[in-house]
Amino acid sequence: MENQELKQVSMPRIGEKAPEFKAVTTQGEINFPSDYSGKWAILFSHPADFTPVCTSEFMTFASMQDKFRKANCELVGLSVDGLYSHIAWLRTIKEKIEYKGMKNVEVTFPLIEDITMEVSAKYGMIMPGESNTKAVRAVFFVDPKGIIRAIIYYPLSIGRNFDELYRALIAMQTTDAFDVACPADWQVGDDVIVPTAGSCGVAKERMEDKETIDCKDWFFCTKKLDKDLVLKTLIQD
Ligand code: BEZ
Repeated sequence: MENQELKQVSMPRIGEKAPEFKAVTTQGEINFPSDYSGKWAILFSHPADFTPVCTSEFMTFASMQDKFRKANCELVGLSVDGLYSHIAWLRTIKEKIEYKGMKNVEVTFPLIEDITMEVSAKYGMIMPGESNTKAVRAVFFVDPKGIIRAIIYYPLSIGRNFDELYRALIAMQTTDAFDVACPADWQVGDDVIVPTAGSCGVAKERMEDKETIDCKDWFFCTKKLDKDLVLKTLIQD
């Protein structure tokens, strides 16, 4: 029967526990998400080793790994290629590829081999309309308690914006730490939104620093959030 050949495909959702798995990676075996308990983790898939867009993505992400680590976040890659393909591709990147000023880039975060497609099926990374045999460019942000907090999907042909991934990570950490929301295009140092309180008066009552809240109407209140305070709270030197 047709259905018996299909793997159990699921689409994890924001707010749910990240599906658990054990996998072989370029850095040894990992148990996800339990190995990352207490840290943020970004689990991301790419379509295939030895392809140009994926290569540009890996070089970019690996170059930013320290920056993510300082924000208590570890990176974990995945594709449906095997371990020896991963190892050969990452070695080639380090030895031969120069791109946008990046060279000798060593990828030291784990890259999962998923030839059986167990993990990619569990995380809804295979989208048959795009490809039956490759994972799309999926990104799962998993918080220190193992909860999925954001998901981003990109098609095969477009590389992701890793500055945006960092911005989204810091924005989520900011909303957690300061009980605020972040408006469009928010960057550290910009005003934040005092979250849905129903009315400005209620919003002001909820906040300790009432006098700094600026309400344009009952549903739109902002306040300043000091850049140094955010950086001191979230970023380890
Ligand atoms: C790439 O990474 O270049 C790529 C991979 C799969 C399909 C199209 C592009």
